[in-house]
Amino acid sequence: MTVGIHRLPGVGAEVLGVDLAQDLPDREFEFMRAAFAEHGVIFFRDQQISEAQHIAFAQRWAPININRFFAAHPDHPEIALVSKERDQTSNIGGGWHTDHSYDRKPALGSILVARELPPEGGNTLFASMYAAYEALSDELKDQLGGLNAVHSVRHVFGEGGAYYVDNDAGGDRIGNTAAAEKLPDVIHPVIITHPLSGRKALYVNPAFTIRFEGWTAEESQPLLHQLYAHCIRPEFVHEFVWRPGSIAFWDNRATWHFARNDYHGHRREMHRITLGGEPLSGAPPT
Ligand code: OGA
Ligand code: MN
Repeated sequence: MTVGIHRLPGVGAEVLGVDLAQDLPDREFEFMRAAFAEHGVIFFRDQQISEAQHIAFAQRWAPININRFFAAHPDHPEIALVSKERDQTSNIGGGWHTDHSYDRKPALGSILVARELPPEGGNTLFASMYAAYEALSDELKDQLGGLNAVHSVRHVFGEGGAYYVDNDAGGDRIGNTAAAEKLPDVIHPVIITHPLSGRKALYVNPAFTIRFEGWTAEESQPLLHQLYAHCIRPEFVHEFVWRPGSIAFWDNRATWHFARNDYHGHRREMHRITLGGEPLSGAPPT
């Protein structure tokens, strides 16, 4: 098979000509690694992989990071179940975010496999934080280059967090408030040098960033909201339409994502494996 790449508008690329159920030759794997670093999110179509093959593919990229808050697959604890039942109204990931920015070593990325899809809807949007950074004015790039931001998980997965109070995505699908309560807030640079590509990317997100370091939350809101509005400009975004056999593999340090919640009354089940990452460093002044 000849591997190829089809670049998508906004962000991301589809990898063509690979069968993830097979042992991939090094050459194909290196091709994918380059595509992942360049595009921030890569997609695969028409794949038929078992849970064990999903795990083996993930392990080839990086050590698996077991999510502390989502329900685990009953037979494969490495796989988190990202599901929405017929009678649920809230979903997981239904706001713009990047996974695990609340960790000192934020997860490299996630490999999400579609297992059960609604007849329509349930698309996932991705936004490029490389493109968002690059489109900022030089003035704002300079200002942000000198800032760090504080990220936290408690207001989302902790006691009284959004998933417990405001919606029904919790229940037996999300848990472990104790772990969320214990996790200390962390600081990351607002502009990071991406560990794989060496490019600069904007690294704040609406779900887990609570303020700039040294600023109050209230003082931080106007600039954070300005950045959030900027980051989802249509030219930085791709809306991925899932089909049976689709797989998305995104880089949490280069993209945001958003799971549309527009398929009430239908079930959707995705299998997610999260890959461990590393501490993030800032960008040298321009
Ligand atoms: C996730 C997530 C998106 C989706 O698994 O981290 O946000 O479309 N899921 O299910
Ligand atoms: Mn997510």
